[in-house]
Amino acid sequence: MLSSKEFIRLSLELHLFFARIMKEHSLFMQLSFTPRDKEYTDRANKLRMEFDRFLNDVVNISNKNISSRVIESGEIVTQYTKKAEEVTIFYTDVNIPTEITEKELKLTSGDNYRDNPKLELEVSKLNERAINLITAIIDFKTDVLGNVTSCKMFTLNYPLLIDHILREARLYLSFVKRLQSRDNIDIEKDIIGQELFWNRIMAEHSKFIRGLLDPTEEELFEIANAFGKEFDALNKAVIEAVERCMPIDEITAEIIVATKNIKEFNTQGTIGLLECKIKSIIIPLLGDHVLRETNHYLRILKMFNKAE
Ligand SMILES: [Fe+2]
Repeated sequence: MLSSKEFIRLSLELHLFFARIMKEHSLFMQLSFTPRDKEYTDRANKLRMEFDRFLNDVVNISNKNISSRVIESGEIVTQYTKKAEEVTIFYTDVNIPTEITEKELKLTSGDNYRDNPKLELEVSKLNERAINLITAIIDFKTDVLGNVTSCKMFTLNYPLLIDHILREARLYLSFVKRLQSRDNIDIEKDIIGQELFWNRIMAEHSKFIRGLLDPTEEELFEIANAFGKEFDALNKAVIEAVERCMPIDEITAEIIVATKNIKEFNTQGTIGLLECKIKSIIIPLLGDHVLRETNHYLRILKMFNKAE
C-alpha cells in the first residue's frame, strides 16, 4: 500500500515522462497520414492537444513534489528538447506549446506534499483523466496498426513503430491503474520485466534510426545496426539467465554500459539533426524523444544496480 506522499510523487513523475511521450507519439502519427486520411490526421491532432493540456496541468502541480533523481535523469526534458520542438514547428507548422517545456526546465525537487489530502485528490483526478486519455490513444494506435498491417492504409511510420508506441502506451496505462489502486509500482522487484521491455525498445530505436538515415550515412547506419544487434543479444542473455534460474546482476551491469553508450549515440544524433549535419528523414523531435526514453531506462537500471 502506497503512502499519500509516495502516491503523489510517483504519479506526477510517471506522467511527466509518459504524457510527453504520448503527446509526441500523437504528433508523429499526425504527420504520417496521407491526404486521403485527413480524419486520422485530425484525430491525432486532437489527441496531441489533449495530452498537451494534461501535461501542462501535471507540470503546474509538480514543482517541489518530485524527486531530484527524476529531474536530473533527463527523462522529463533535456537541454535539446526546446530547440528540437522549435525546429519541428519550423518544418511542420504544428503548434507545439514550447512554454510547457520552459516550465519543465524550471522544475525543482522537494517535499512539499506532507499530509495534503487536497493534492492527493487532485492527483487522483489526474490519474483518472490519464486512464481515459491513454485508453483513447491505445484505441487509435490499434486502429491504425490494424489498417496498416491489412494494407487498408498507408502511413509514413513503420508498422513496427506503431506497434512499439502501442506497447509503451499499454505499459503507461498499467502503471497508472496500479497507482490508482495504491499499489506500489516497485519496479525494483520487476527488474526482469523492465529489462526485457526496455532492451527491446532500445533495439527497435536503433533499427528505426538505421532505416531513417540517408543511405549515404554509412558510418551512422553501421553504428545503429550494431546497437540493434547488441540489445537483441542482451535480451537473449536475460531470457537464458531466467530459464536457467541464474542471477542477472552481471547482465544488468552489461546493459548499463550498453545503455550509456546508446545514450551518447542518441545525444550526438540529436545534436547532428539540430545542426543539420546528418542526412535523414528523422523528424528532429524524434531524436530527443528517443534520448529521453534512454535516460528513463538508465535511471531505472541505476535503481537496480545499487553500486552505480
Ligand atoms: Fe520508444
